[in-house]
Amino acid sequence: MKKYKKILLIGGEGYVGSVVKNYFLAKNFYVDSIDCLLYENETSVISNNSENYNFKYGELSQIDKITKINDYDLIILFAGLVGDPVVRKYSKLSTKINVYDIQNIIIFLSKKYKNNFFFISTCSNYGLMQNNDRANEDFNLNPISNYAKAKVSAEKLIMNTKNNASYKPTIFRFATAFGISPRMRFDLTLNQFVLDIYNNIPLEIYDPDTWRPYCHVQDFAQILYQTYKLNYKKRYFEIFNAGFNNNHSTKRELVYKIVKLLNTDMKNIKFINKKGSDQRNYKVDFSKINEKVLLKQKFTIKKGITELKKYLDNNIFKNYSINSNKGNFKVIRKVR
Ligand SMILES: NC(=O)c1ccc[n+]([C@@H]2O[C@H](COP(=O)([O-])OP(=O)(O)OC[C@H]3O[C@@H](n4cnc5c(N)ncnc54)[C@H](O)[C@@H]3O)[C@@H](O)[C@H]2O)c1
Repeated sequence: MKKYKKILLIGGEGYVGSVVKNYFLAKNFYVDSIDCLLYENETSVISNNSENYNFKYGELSQIDKITKINDYDLIILFAGLVGDPVVRKYSKLSTKINVYDIQNIIIFLSKKYKNNFFFISTCSNYGLMQNNDRANEDFNLNPISNYAKAKVSAEKLIMNTKNNASYKPTIFRFATAFGISPRMRFDLTLNQFVLDIYNNIPLEIYDPDTWRPYCHVQDFAQILYQTYKLNYKKRYFEIFNAGFNNNHSTKRELVYKIVKLLNTDMKNIKFINKKGSDQRNYKVDFSKINEKVLLKQKFTIKKGITELKKYLDNNIFKNYSINSNKGNFKVIRKVR
């Protein structure tokens, strides 16, 4: 009988994790997922009944009690409070999870775990940049939010474990995600713009000319899988920006594209030329991952908008914006 590899996703029922879970299952991996279902995201758990998938309810900080880490060939850490709004709203909890629990698990894995470890970080680490620059992995980090500051600290900690490491870590700085997932998020720029413009909900857009790179969740899954397939020496203690150079946009250009593809107008859309609470502005150089790893981009921004439109046309996600990381608290329509 063929022996399949076993992987563990921590935070595997989240927006990105649940897509990655399905991707690795389709590649015949055994997938264990640990998640405390912060957003009542059980839909992600029940959306998959593969016998190679095993869900374990639990907290990141309890991982040594829930599972045997050395059973896994790869552990991917997605868990945390994700995005600035939720981190600001739950600042104590986010310090506990994003700073202390994550740092503890990194130290634990660095000493006790012998295999591959992928840490999911963010391009938000680049924060505020001048328009002509493009950040490669060596570019100065300038995190603005506590969310990104915690990621930068976790990255530094991982890199500092190098001289005394039992594990084989790789760090991925993800672009901003978009696309369909079993645990859908509509608080992400592209997804939210499409939903609101589709539903004719008034949209106020601050800092409309700031740049951001975007990447589809399916493409993230592909990036993780293909990087895993590399000889580990090519990814050992490496940092990769994860995304594609052709998927950059300002918010303003993004809106124009959506309006055109949805065949609608700008009536309910207001660009506000004032600084909002999220002034991130960065263009990222994704050459390293695209040169080292065999990737075939599946989704441009345009294709992602068309995909979302198809789901909305079929009445899926009709009233979905409440089920996001702005979540169980009041939905804020302003995109800052
Ligand atoms: N979505 C994006 O645009 C984006 C961009 C860059 C980086 N990332 C990174 O990708 C990862 C996944 O993001 P996402 O969009 O899927 O977020 P998400 O909020 O949908 O998923 C996070 C998951 O972690 C779980 N979780 C949170 N705290 C936990 C804990 N203490 N113990 C166990 N489970 C816990 C939640 O229940 C949730 O299922 C995060 O590390 C995030 O920083 C995401």
